[in-house]
Amino acid sequence: MCGIVAYIGPKDATPFLLEGLARLEYRGYDSAGVAVAGRTGGVKVRKVKGRVADLAAEVPARFKGTTGIGHTRWATHGVPSDANAHPHLDNAERIAVVHNGIVENADELRVRLAAEGAVFRSETDTEVLSHLIAAHATEGVELEEAVRAALGKVVGTYGIAVLDAERPDRVVVARNGSPIVLGIGEKEMFVASDVSALVRYTRQVVHLEDGELATVRADGFRTFTEDARTTHRQPSTVDWEIDSYDTGGYEHFLLKEIHEQPGSVERTLSGRLDERFATAHLGGLNLDARELREIRRVKILGCGSAYYAGEMGAQLIEELARIPAHSEPASEFRYRNPVIEADTLYIAVSQSGETYDTLAAVQEVKRKGGRVLGVVNTVGSAIARECDGGIYLHAGPEISVASTKAFTSTVVAFALLALHFGRIHDLSPADGRRIVSALNALPGQIREILAQSDEIAGLAAEYADSTGMMFIGRVRGYPVAREGAQKLKEISYVHAEAYPASELKHGPLALISPELPTVALVPDDELLDKNLTTLGEIKARAGRVLAVAHRRPDARLADHCILVPKSEPELDPLLLNIPLQLLAYHAAVALKRDVDKPRNLAKSVTVE
Ligand code: F6R
Repeated sequence: MCGIVAYIGPKDATPFLLEGLARLEYRGYDSAGVAVAGRTGGVKVRKVKGRVADLAAEVPARFKGTTGIGHTRWATHGVPSDANAHPHLDNAERIAVVHNGIVENADELRVRLAAEGAVFRSETDTEVLSHLIAAHATEGVELEEAVRAALGKVVGTYGIAVLDAERPDRVVVARNGSPIVLGIGEKEMFVASDVSALVRYTRQVVHLEDGELATVRADGFRTFTEDARTTHRQPSTVDWEIDSYDTGGYEHFLLKEIHEQPGSVERTLSGRLDERFATAHLGGLNLDARELREIRRVKILGCGSAYYAGEMGAQLIEELARIPAHSEPASEFRYRNPVIEADTLYIAVSQSGETYDTLAAVQEVKRKGGRVLGVVNTVGSAIARECDGGIYLHAGPEISVASTKAFTSTVVAFALLALHFGRIHDLSPADGRRIVSALNALPGQIREILAQSDEIAGLAAEYADSTGMMFIGRVRGYPVAREGAQKLKEISYVHAEAYPASELKHGPLALISPELPTVALVPDDELLDKNLTTLGEIKARAGRVLAVAHRRPDARLADHCILVPKSEPELDPLLLNIPLQLLAYHAAVALKRDVDKPRNLAKSVTVE
């Protein structure tokens, strides 16, 4: 949700802090701040409401120190303001803290600390941490001991970095539900909540575990648990390309990520297709054929676009493996005391692997003895670690807030799982071969769709000023409509509603007018005639129609059409979705929206 960076070494920390924050800005961007300390004594702090660029403009040239922490915020407790921006200080302005997550007992701690003399200058839950740590950092107590003791009184989730003006030779960090990564340099150390801030400086990283703390010094680090037991962590190497963290000549990360899809799909498929047995190999499932045969139902859990990708996944599993499958928002599932069945396979979907609602749903299933697989992009993330096995997407880092390439790779991963499942059950070798060759053809077909980007930009400009848009699709097309509406509304702020085409006449047809155009998914499948009838019903009410189709419908049924190459019917939804990504992108550009950082949203939602 928010972003954390820290530096300790021989150099001035400020340039790294500001650059690292700019790279993390996609995670939260309503205020930003930095604090540095050095040999001259005292902590210097600058923090502002606004973007990292606003902060950089406020930081004077003399703002220097060899140890520093920084933060970019997405407000949860208290409005975006200079005062609520992190870092937060104690009364003596000695302890500076940046924090991601939520301190659930902040109100109670605030009352207690205020009674002991703490003067609060913000509305945030984070400020209690600086006062609480300061209260424990008495004469002769090491900073790490003070942090450990303070966290012992905290209920909630956190990733924190703590700077002490009296001990500028170290930064103390801790993780509980919100990621902290240490980056190992040459006689210097970096910290961030996400590797994207570090990869320009080092590829050697250590991901802290929940409940773990670290003392970070210029020449190394020491990790330990909440009860002070030393832990031994081996660094791992980040294998994502540095280029992934730049726009690489594209105007926005979103456009770049849409255009990366032929390559990201290839990576999701790589080494997983078995032409000989017309199946898929998925090494990380940790379930053998016998165990898979015992599964009677599949329940898929995710939030937002991950949930819609799960709906496409459920459809694929039902069609190819003939096992009942259903996708549900993880955010709802976790609160409804779900019935967990031994013969149901639960699958959690998450690009970031950090979404708190999805993580909580996984924990709920596991607590009740269920088995959960993860379909996750971020290797080693909290959800990936919590699951019993799963499929990594290998889509590469996704920076733009709206999910595109990870969405597509998720659907590809489900296609592989459905194929594997299907071939263990009754999917024939011929059908298996049909799916294998359709999967192999996807990257080329996605390229064909991307080549229409300019044409789609023209259509987007034409439709962007509508008061709203309806997205409709039948059966396989319905999740496509939902994801299309989601993408449009989140980045262009145009109201968009998705409906099953079959349901239109049961209510929403009343909305149809020239002011509310419809995007209709019209694949050339067994439901084509039904879809064409629906288009006729819309046109009869003077509605405008933009068809996304395999064959151009009669001009009386659609005002415009985007043609999409045909795959096998089970995989068509994946391709039908790609033009909708471009439509949303170009509509957002036409409306001059902040495409990569839409208002009120953040890339990973690590709070409830
Ligand atoms: C929409 C979008 C969100 C995410 C959702 C889950 O474009 O990006 O709806 O899909 O917040 O995020 P992950 O997949 O990281 O769990």
